[in-house]
Amino acid sequence: MSKIFISCALPYANGPCHLGHIRSTYLPADIYARYNRMIGNDVLMVCATDEHGTPIAVKADKENKKPIEISKRYHDMIVRDVKSMNISLDNFTRTTDKAHYEIAQNFFKDLYDKNLIYRQDLEQLYCDNCEKFLPDRYVEGLCPVCGAEARGDHCEKCGKALEPTELDEPHCITCGHTPKIKETYQYAFKLSEFENTLKEYINNNQNLPANVKNYASNWLAEGLNDWILTRDMDWGIPVPLDEAKGKVLYVWIEAFLGYISSASQWSKKTSKKWEEYWNDYVVHFIGKDIIYHHSIFWPGLLTAYGCKLPDMIYAGEFLSLEGEKMSTSKNWVIWIEDFVKDYEPDLLRYYLTINAPLNKDSDFSWDDFQRRNNDELADVVGNFLHRTFVFTKKSFESKIPEYNNPTAEDEEFRQAIEALPDKAGKHISNYEFREALVEIFKVAKKGNKYFNDQEPWKTVKEDKTKASNCLYLSNQLAKTLAYTLKPFLPTKADKIAEIMNIKTLDNWEDAKIPLPSGHVINKAKPLFKKIEDKEIEAQKAKLKENLNEKEDENMSDLITIDQFDEVVIKIGEIKEAEKIEKSDKLLKLQVDIGEDKTRQIVAGLAKFYSPEELINRKVCVVANLQPAKLFNTLSEGMILATGETGALLTPDENAKIGERIQ
Ligand code: 2FM
Ligand code: ZN
Repeated sequence: MSKIFISCALPYANGPCHLGHIRSTYLPADIYARYNRMIGNDVLMVCATDEHGTPIAVKADKENKKPIEISKRYHDMIVRDVKSMNISLDNFTRTTDKAHYEIAQNFFKDLYDKNLIYRQDLEQLYCDNCEKFLPDRYVEGLCPVCGAEARGDHCEKCGKALEPTELDEPHCITCGHTPKIKETYQYAFKLSEFENTLKEYINNNQNLPANVKNYASNWLAEGLNDWILTRDMDWGIPVPLDEAKGKVLYVWIEAFLGYISSASQWSKKTSKKWEEYWNDYVVHFIGKDIIYHHSIFWPGLLTAYGCKLPDMIYAGEFLSLEGEKMSTSKNWVIWIEDFVKDYEPDLLRYYLTINAPLNKDSDFSWDDFQRRNNDELADVVGNFLHRTFVFTKKSFESKIPEYNNPTAEDEEFRQAIEALPDKAGKHISNYEFREALVEIFKVAKKGNKYFNDQEPWKTVKEDKTKASNCLYLSNQLAKTLAYTLKPFLPTKADKIAEIMNIKTLDNWEDAKIPLPSGHVINKAKPLFKKIEDKEIEAQKAKLKENLNEKEDENMSDLITIDQFDEVVIKIGEIKEAEKIEKSDKLLKLQVDIGEDKTRQIVAGLAKFYSPEELINRKVCVVANLQPAKLFNTLSEGMILATGETGALLTPDENAKIGERIQ
C-alpha cells in the first residue's frame, strides 16, 4: 500500500467555482483519489482557499469592503460548490487561518536564516494618484514577450510569469494613470542558485507530463532570475522580519504552503502524519496557467527548504464555453451553483471527462452535453442496466441466474468484462481518465449488443440456459460498471450498487469477483434520463442573456438616487474619430459636450464601427469620470454603449449638445 498526497490548486477566494475549476483541477484529482482509495492506497487529498494577494484586494477595493469579508464570502461559496460536485477532499482550509500564517512565516524565516533570501533595493511601479505601489494585478499593460494585454503578474496568452515593471504601457487599474518608477526594497529568493537542480528535476522525472516538461524546459533554457517574495501591501501575511514593516509575503510563496497547512490541520484532527504521505508520493493537480509556478518556483523553494519534490504535477488544459474563451467578468461562464440546480453533478463529471483528455483543450457546449447524456449515458449505460435489471426481475425472480455450458460469444463477453477493471484502472493510474471511461463505455456498448444478439426475451421460452447465461453475464457487467464508474460518477455508481444489493464499492478488486448465482437484486429504477431539446435551448438562452450582467449578484446592492446623481451624463456629438495603433478594440474620439474644448475619449467601439461611421453621431457621455490613460492615450469620459454588440445609446434628435441626462 502506498500513501498518496494529492492537492488541488488553491482557488482564489474572489469568485465561486465554475466549470473550468472543476475540469482542470478538482475532478481529475477526485477521480484519481477515489480510484486510489479503492485499490487500497492511503490517500490524503487537500485544498484551501487562496485568500491573500491582489485578486482579493482588488475585488475588495471595488466593493468598498475589507478583503477578509470578500474572501470569507467566496470561501463559503467555493466549499459549497466543491461539495455539490462530490469532490472527496479530506481537508479544505483557508490561507487566512492562523496556523497557515505561522507555517508561511516560519518557512520564509528558514530560508532567510539560510541566506537564501536577501534584501534587494529595486524600483517598482508607483501610482502617484492612488499614492501606493502597484504590485501584481494592480497594474495592467502589454506583455513584453508576446504583446498581448497582460496583468502585472502574469500573461494569460503566453503563460509567462511577470513583474509589473516588465509590462509595456502599464496603467493603474484603479485610476488608469500611468504609474511611475519608484525606489523601494523587497526580499528576493536566490532561485538562480537552484537552476541546475531544477533542470535535473524536470529532465530526469520521466513521469511529468509533456505540457509541464515543455513549458518548464523552455523557461529553464532562458535562465532563471532570483524571485521577489514580498510586496508593499496591507493585505497579506506580514514578512516576519523586524526591519520589514508594511511588507507582506507575495501570495505565490505562501499559497503553495496552503497545501502543507491544510495537510497539517488534517494531521491535528486525525493524529495521522501528513509527512508520511508527502514522502511517499505527491501529486499536484493544477491548471495550465500555473505550470510555471509549480514546476519552477515551488520545487525551487522546496529544495531550498530541504524537502522532497513533487512526484507529479498534472496540469489540466483550458476549457472554453460554446467555442469562446470563458470570462467571469463578461459572465461568459457556467457557475457550478447554477449547473447543479438543473442537473445532477455526475452528468457534468461524465461530460467533462469524456469530452477531451485533460492534457488537451476542451469545450463545453450545451448541445454536445445533451448529445453525450442522451446517446451515451442514457442510451448505452442506462439502457443496458435497465433492461438487465428489469429482465432479471421478470424472468429470474430477481436472482442472478446460473452460468452453464457457455458459448464462444458468452465467453468472449465474459473475458471483456473480466478484463475491464484492470484496463480502466491502468489508465486511471496513468492519469488517462478519458481513456478509462472510453474503455468502460466500449464494454457497456458490447453489453447492449450482446443482449440484443442473445435475444433472451425469446430464448427464455425456448432455451433457458441461453437466457440464463445472458442475464448472468449482463448482471456481472452491471456490477463491474458500478465499480469502474465509481471514481467518475460516484452517485450513479452507488445507485447501481443499491439496486444490485452490493453493500459497498470500496474495493476495486471486488469488481473481478463475480456475483454468485442466486444473489438477489432489488427493483430497477431508471438511472439516466434524456434531456429534452427545449431544456437545452433554455440553457443556451440563459447563457446569452446573462452575458455582461453584473459580475456577481451578491454585490448588486441597489443604489440611491443621490448615488445615481453623482454620475453626470451629457449629450455629446462625435467630431473626430480615429483608430488607436496596436489596439483592435479602441478608437480615439473628440466629442463636443458643450464645453469650450472637445473631450478626448477612448472608446471600445472599433470592433463595431469604423471611425467614419461615428462622425456627427449624437451620443451619451459620462462627463465626470476621472481621466484615465488607455494604450497611452488620455481618455476624459465614457461613451455609453452596450458591451456585447457595441450599440450606442443615441438620444432623440431634439436633444441639445451639452444637455445633462437626469
Ligand atoms: O492561480 C490561482 O488560482 C492560484 N490561487 C493558485 C494557487 S495554487 C497553489 F499554489 F496553492
Ligand atoms: Zn492609481
